[in-house]
Amino acid sequence: MATTSSQSSLEAELTVLGNRAETEIAQAASLEDLEQLRVAYLGKKGQISKVLGGMGKLSAEERPRVGALANTVKTAFQSQLDDRKAALQTAAIEAQLAAETLDVTMPGVYRPQGRVHPINSIIDQLTEIFVGLGYTVASGPEIESDYYNFEALNFLPDHPARDMQDTLYLPNGDLLRTHTSNTQIRYMQDHEPPLRVLATGRCYRRDTVDATHAAVFHQIEFFAVDKGITFTDLRGTIRALIDELFGEIPIRFRPSFFPFTEPSAEVDVEWKGRWLEVLGCGMIDPNVMKSVGYDPEVYTGFAAGLGVERLAMVQHEIDDIRRLYSSDLRFLQQF
Ligand code: DAH
Repeated sequence: MATTSSQSSLEAELTVLGNRAETEIAQAASLEDLEQLRVAYLGKKGQISKVLGGMGKLSAEERPRVGALANTVKTAFQSQLDDRKAALQTAAIEAQLAAETLDVTMPGVYRPQGRVHPINSIIDQLTEIFVGLGYTVASGPEIESDYYNFEALNFLPDHPARDMQDTLYLPNGDLLRTHTSNTQIRYMQDHEPPLRVLATGRCYRRDTVDATHAAVFHQIEFFAVDKGITFTDLRGTIRALIDELFGEIPIRFRPSFFPFTEPSAEVDVEWKGRWLEVLGCGMIDPNVMKSVGYDPEVYTGFAAGLGVERLAMVQHEIDDIRRLYSSDLRFLQQF
């Protein structure tokens, strides 16, 4: 009697538990709810485990029946749980998709497009021209020693040529380079001719700022060394790059002096009805050749330094160099 009653009461309990679990699973609103249910029913101290704890009192014939029922209930519970979980996950994804629908008719967010600054644009154009002519791009430091900026370029310590390029000195005697010609020495020291090199960068001078002078400005230096290079090669190269940049505008070569070239010239181009100097150039001085260990009896070369700001002013008919640095968007957006 007692055996029969505990068997039937266990079976009844399991059936009730199974039904209740099914209802609760169906009502679970979230993955957390489901997890709680799993623990409440199937966990070590869960309700199903509790019921099964009573199985020890069952007889040998009854035990398999109850065990089989318990397994059926457990399996059903697990698969209901899995189904509900999948349904909740699908619903969550669908809700997210619905919330994040892309409305392609919505007006976009306006982001102003950046432009290339006229200074960078000149540098890019010239780099392209020179790379097309077979030049190698090099660079040098803005903080430079007196040796590379002046001495190796044949500036004697007290020569008045230094006055044209007064600069700012650091306490250790180094200086802010006054031109990109320092790259000539650095490059030639490390390489053997023949060579064709282009170097771009910022330069500094203790200059009074006006419409055509800035204390910080950019130069492009180019130079070539080989056997048999002449002034004609220099002239042809300059004419070619001016043509490429501006079309066939009038230019003039004016005799000049630089310690590191002999002969030397400056080149002016027509700008707003007057001549504007845009570059210095010349045949590399034999003393410079010697300072880097080249034999001036074997090799000759030309060199030039172009003022990037000046070129930008000619290209865009800009009337004042200071506009290039004013960061005025009304000005910059024109380019
Ligand atoms: N470095 C000169 C300057 O800043 C420009 C210059 C002149 C560069 C002659 C050269 C050169 O390479 O050969 O005024």
